[in-house]
Amino acid sequence: MGKGLDPMQAEERNRIIIFDTTLRDGEQSPGVALSAEEKVEIAEQLARLGVDVIEAGFPISSPGDFEAVRAIAHRVKGPIIAGLSRANPRDVERAGEALEPAARRRIHTFIATSEIHMKYKLRMEPDAVVAAAVEAVRRARRYTDDVEFSAEDATRSNLDFLARILSAAVEAGATTINVPDTVGYTTPQEFHRLITFLRQRVVGADRVKFSVHCHNDLGLAVANSLAAIEAGAVQVETTINGIGERAGNTSMEEVVMAMRTRRDYYHGWETGIATEHFYRTSRLVSSLTGMAVQANKAVVGANAFAHQAGIHQDGVLKEPLTYEIMRPQDVGVPKSLLVMGKLSGRHAFRERLKELGYEMTDEELQKAFARFKELADRKKDGVTDRDLEAIVEAERQLPAEIFGLDSFHVTSGTSTPPTATICLQVQGQRYQEAAWGTGPVDALYRAIDRITSLQCRLEDYSLKAVTSGQDALGEVTVRVAARRGEEGEVAMLGRGVSTDIIEASVKAYLAAVNKLCLTTGSHPMPPEALRVKEAVSQ
Ligand code: KIV
Ligand code: ZN
Repeated sequence: MGKGLDPMQAEERNRIIIFDTTLRDGEQSPGVALSAEEKVEIAEQLARLGVDVIEAGFPISSPGDFEAVRAIAHRVKGPIIAGLSRANPRDVERAGEALEPAARRRIHTFIATSEIHMKYKLRMEPDAVVAAAVEAVRRARRYTDDVEFSAEDATRSNLDFLARILSAAVEAGATTINVPDTVGYTTPQEFHRLITFLRQRVVGADRVKFSVHCHNDLGLAVANSLAAIEAGAVQVETTINGIGERAGNTSMEEVVMAMRTRRDYYHGWETGIATEHFYRTSRLVSSLTGMAVQANKAVVGANAFAHQAGIHQDGVLKEPLTYEIMRPQDVGVPKSLLVMGKLSGRHAFRERLKELGYEMTDEELQKAFARFKELADRKKDGVTDRDLEAIVEAERQLPAEIFGLDSFHVTSGTSTPPTATICLQVQGQRYQEAAWGTGPVDALYRAIDRITSLQCRLEDYSLKAVTSGQDALGEVTVRVAARRGEEGEVAMLGRGVSTDIIEASVKAYLAAVNKLCLTTGSHPMPPEALRVKEAVSQ
């Protein structure tokens, strides 16, 4: 491996195609459920980032996924929009229909090729698997000239069979051949050998692009992807923050920054990624999926550019290259944690948000500015970039308000049962209820449930401080599930931020409840007995 390519080969394959599957494999992460609007927002950010292909979803999997793929195909300009389908006629047709509005579209069809999968999951003979793959590729070509075929579980498949089915897929019209390490089983050297073998053995290999799709079960997804590119793969499938099934997929920011930072080693491979959008994209995906980015995560983690040891700090102050192999600004990490105060004006606020990568409408800016002023009043040491990000994200994700917070009061202590009283606004009326619980937040959530009359179940609750310090903003993320007619249970994420963690908890819960009501399209009115009878002034 390493510098082994001859210059001709290297030049021909200099441009590496970045295929993003955050919205498909990434969305398969446990507990993640994005609405169509949220998916469009992420897709627009991926287009800004410069990805070549966006896998927008798996259209046959649900009506919601179909609509989301269609909305992205319709609205997101620039990248090729791809939709996933199993190798059967109905799946391919559904993907074709969903992608129809896209200027550039790709159908990505797949079938498993390992003995374990064919025998136990598909219950199909190998010949039937090859026939299904051929038929699916041919059918997909009726909708688009750009067809990708994946041999699921390729790294545990018989080599001769793998070469046979991939040759048949190329013959049927596939233009990209993807080799997934579905269960994150392979190692860099082994994967390098596999790609080299397939490039030699697949009939028609020179007419198609080789792609890889790695999972991270052994923490090797990025290393395996890089090894495969060295062996001749020209497309790499990735997700933002490395989210995805189980331990996730190849992290886009890591694989792209490895190629960029080690251009000297990696034959000058180029991508079309505007890396300065990584930080913002990572934040957006994290806040919309509710999946936190670990502090020590490479490239985009909070500590990725933090130097703790005195000796390191001293070195970085003298010359950043001593301990920094990438510059924070190369991946869009804000230059400084600039602090703004209550005297900062609207202009400075707008400029700072621009530098942080937020493009906002006047109305959004207006609301965010009001929240900033409120916060600046509470935080004596000033508002940092991280605070700004937290309030803007929370504000942007607020659904239309069906149940609005009017006021609340809690009592809690070591010798009294925690109790809460809450007053909510619904269609111009105020409704009030009290409850007790295992803690003040539980008491508040019970009181809210009585007002909304919804049967909600709190699936997940997390609280983190946005910055350090006693007056830090608390950020609460909740996942709340409720029954929705025939579809069974649906779950929604809600986020709330405040310097008061109980208030942040209430805001997060109400955001999730409002989203649930909006997707259901209806909600019961609160019981009349809970309505606050306003005193009429004489
Ligand atoms: O991991 C996998 O094999 C996949 C395929 C559908 C490409 O996600
Ligand atoms: Zn996968």
